[in-house]
Amino acid sequence: MKKEDKNIYSVFDELLQRSDKEDLLSQRSKVIWLTGLSGSGKTTLAKYLEKELHQLGFLTQVLDGDNIRTGINNNLGFSIDDRTENIRRIAEVSKLFINCGIITINSFVSPTDAIRKIAKEIIGEKDFLEIFVATSLEECEKRDTKGLYLKARQGKIKNFTGIDAPFEHPEQPDLIIETTNKTIAQSGEQLLIFVLMHIKKH
Ligand code: ADX
Repeated sequence: MKKEDKNIYSVFDELLQRSDKEDLLSQRSKVIWLTGLSGSGKTTLAKYLEKELHQLGFLTQVLDGDNIRTGINNNLGFSIDDRTENIRRIAEVSKLFINCGIITINSFVSPTDAIRKIAKEIIGEKDFLEIFVATSLEECEKRDTKGLYLKARQGKIKNFTGIDAPFEHPEQPDLIIETTNKTIAQSGEQLLIFVLMHIKKH
């Protein structure tokens, strides 16, 4: 059904442009999309990046499981359909943020090519920076920061990514970060340098 048939009319063409807001903030907005296994270091990297960018004068917003799955997506679980809907809504929310000129740092497992493709299509290829946090399953399971791998191995959690649900490695990520045997500052700096190349206003 067309938008007109639903009596929905877009007001976007009457509003200030994204570029007006980017000019105001002296930055270019992008979505920094961190994908990887649970425990791979996505959230840690998101927090590191947010702090560093803030100190350098950039306006950011972090979206991750904690603020999304307890709020806007609190009705979703971990079936493939729910994960797809989780990511679709997050991508739509991210789009609102980037249209506001804000650098959006997303940390979600986003386990399949199809799911990441949906996010990329909604956000738009040129605004979507895919960062693969490539920490191995072995290392994530060793860390087991939340104790979830143990529960998944014991069968207490079903459909756990990497154990009995798939994680497909991204085919052509914009950046790969391997956190094993690195400090947070080392991995974080690698991410920061890459992101700065894309968000600075010339
Ligand atoms: S996604 O697959 O839909 O992208 P999302 O990033 O929102 O996942 O949430 C993943 C987090 O939820 C994990 O880091 C973990 O803490 C928790 N979690 C709970 N159950 C599962 C599960 N079955 N698979 C993966 N993560 C789970």
